[in-house]
Order: sequence, then C-alpha cells, then structure tokens
Amino acid sequence: MAGSLAGRHVLLGVSGGIAAYKAAELARGLIKAGATVQALLTEGAAQFVGPATFAGLTGRPAHTGVFTDAHHILHVRLAREADVAVFAPATANLLAKLAVGVADDLVTSTYACLTCPVLLAPAMHTEMWQHQATVDNVATLARRGARVVGPDDGDLAGGDVGPGRLASVDALLAAVAEALAAASGALAGRRVVVTAGPTHEPIDPVRFVGNRSSGKMGFALAVEAARRGSSVDLVTGPTSLADPPGVRVHRVETAVQMRDAVLPLAAGADAVVKAAAVADFRPASYRAQKIKKDADDASQLELVRNPDILAELGQLAGRHRAEGTGAPVLVGFAAETDLEEEHGRDKLRRKGVDLIVVNRVDAVDAGFAVDTNRALVLGADGTRMEVPLVSKAALAAVVWDAVEARLPQDETGAS
Ligand code: CTP
Repeated sequence: MAGSLAGRHVLLGVSGGIAAYKAAELARGLIKAGATVQALLTEGAAQFVGPATFAGLTGRPAHTGVFTDAHHILHVRLAREADVAVFAPATANLLAKLAVGVADDLVTSTYACLTCPVLLAPAMHTEMWQHQATVDNVATLARRGARVVGPDDGDLAGGDVGPGRLASVDALLAAVAEALAAASGALAGRRVVVTAGPTHEPIDPVRFVGNRSSGKMGFALAVEAARRGSSVDLVTGPTSLADPPGVRVHRVETAVQMRDAVLPLAAGADAVVKAAAVADFRPASYRAQKIKKDADDASQLELVRNPDILAELGQLAGRHRAEGTGAPVLVGFAAETDLEEEHGRDKLRRKGVDLIVVNRVDAVDAGFAVDTNRALVLGADGTRMEVPLVSKAALAAVVWDAVEARLPQDETGAS
C-alpha cells in the first residue's frame, strides 16, 4: 500500500466530532506511507484538535478559514492540488452541507471545487447516522461517486455503543490507496455504457415475454467501471436492483427502448458492454385489452424479431474503424447451455465485437439470479481466458481488465 500512496497528495478534511483526534492518526499514517497531506479543519474540528497538531504531523499549515490567504483563492488551489480527498470524520452536518452544495467554510468550499476521487468517513451517534436526513444525504453523495468508508459498529462518545464509529485508520488508509489505484487505471476518465437485465416485451397490459435475467452481472460491471474512475451509463431492463452509486441509470422495458437508449449513448463512448439478456422476439402486436381465455383465441402468439443491438453496434464500429474515426471496445455476453466455445466464437464473428463473455446459464451456481458466475472470455484477436467460478464482481473486474487492455492510448486516456 505504501507504494501506491508515495508521492501522492492527499487532502484531509476534518469536521467537528470527537473522532477528529483519529484524523491526526490518519494524517500520520498517510505521511508514513509517503503521501503529502494537506489538512483542512472546520471550526468545530479545531475545537477538538488544534491546527498545530495537524501542522506538526504533516509539515504544512492546517488551514481553517477561507480568508486566511484570500488573495490565493485557497479553496480552488487546494482542490486542484489534491490527488484524492478524504473527509474524516465526516459529521452529519458536514454530509448535509456537501450533499446540498453549501460552501460556507474552507472545508465545504474546497469540496465544491474537487475533481479528484472523494472518500467520506462518517462518524456520529447512531441516531444521527440512522436519521433519514443523513441516510438520504449519504445516498446522494454516493450516487455522485463518493466512496463511503464505514462507519463501524462499536464504542461511541458518552459510553454509547452502536453503528457510527469512525472506520479504523487501517481501513481508511487502504481505501485511500484503493481509490488512487482505481483512478490511475486505463478506465479512469473514460466513458462507458453497460446494459443489464432482461427486456420485457408486452403481450397485453398484464403479460409479457421475458427471461430470467436478474441484472446482477450488468450492475456488477457498472459498479466496477465506476470504481475504476469511469463515467458510467447503465441501461437496464426491469430488475429489482437499486441504482448503484456513481452511475447514471436509464431504466427501460423493451428491446426497442433499450436500443433507442443505447445507440446515442454509445456514440463517442470508449466501451460498450452488453450484459443484458435482450429478448430476441416480441409479440407482433400489443393487445390494449387484457386477453380473455374464453373470449379470445390465445393459442397462437405471433412473434417478430427484435433489433439485435449488439450486432448494430458491431456494424457501426466496423464502419467507424474503416473510416479511421475510432469506435468503442464492444463486449457481448453469450448465454449458452452447450458447445460454449464454438457458439461463442461464432457470435463474436457474427456480431463484430471485440470480446465475448460466454457463460453457462444451466448451472445452479452460475448464470441467472445467482451471485456467482463462471465464464469463458473470447477475444476477436484469438485470445481465450477461462474464468473459474467467481463472484459476479470478480468477473466484472476480469472483463474490465480485458477492455482496458484493448483501449487505444489516446488523449482521453488518463494512463
Ligand atoms: N443482444 C442484443 N440484442 C438482441 C439480442 C442480443 O444486443 N436483440 C446482445 C446481448 O446483450 C448479448 C449478446 O447479444 O451481449 C448475445 O445474446 P444472445 O441472445 O446469447 O445471442 P443471439 O445472437 O441471440 O444467439 P442465440 O439466441 O442464437 O444464442
């Protein structure tokens, strides 16, 4: 971990809670790992631990006020210098201010200027942590991409015990290192599109043609891409999964709606990963009134083909590459029940994609609705990688590793 922090510039925002004394320990740990640390204290924080403590530990003045160095526009400069920012402890009050954009002191004004990864380490009494206002504020900040570390369950001020204790210094150091590592990979600063879930093709107001996809694989891919610092659009069919933090979610029902959402987003994207189990067929016509079993002849359901979104993207990519205008790295998923590699290679060619992730959907521990998967990742360049039974999160990491290896090194690349 020391290696990943060495030479990096960490902004440490400290707000006013008893856990502020642990922020001094965090500053020390960061310095020991080779980082430079700029501490900023709210007025409340300075009541708990004086700026001299942080200045002594970091070798830099610990600022408290916007106006101490007004002609240098301190908050803007401090934000620009930061490779990563960690707010520890983050009180309920600080989280509320950050969530709504209040910038009334140096800590909050600097936050409002940050473009680097942000970590929030909440610490407060259980009642405050569990209050709906705090829950909503944390959700807002997480949706915007902040990493929330802790709080832990344990001893709190005043002899109370429960959730609300600042995460351990070790956990915070690891999270800072992890945020820095993710932000310096090839996916950082890129824009990717992920699809997830099934599509539902309506027959009448109560029935549809669909499949058993849960959306878990696509959501895991979106989460992993966001963790790597990418801007992520997730286009998902119907699922019961909540919006992942830091991801723009577009919810659709049908294959045609998915196509209409994906094509514009794919233009100019660096990668498109299509984990959605798109229905290949839809009812030829939609019956606006519920089909009645006695009054209607429902023994025949006429189906028509849906657009193949991935194949369309493959054709577009082929055209763009021929014109030398660049195209996103395209990844398809293939749900198979037999002859995995043969079908996978065939799909890779037919759809004109760069990578295909072949997964068996007929096993109890892989495929639909479960948290694990096993796969065969095939590349158009002839590569072949077997992924044993792993979590969908781990498979997502394998897929993005393969995408990163295929991203052109251009001016958009952060690496
Ligand atoms: N896909 C798509 N649009 C469709 C059907 C599939 O974009 N109308 C995408 C899926 O998101 C997935 C890949 O194509 O990434 C593979 O889908 P699959 O249904 O397994 O392949 P098919 O080409 O339909 O082949 P088959 O049904 O013969 O297995």
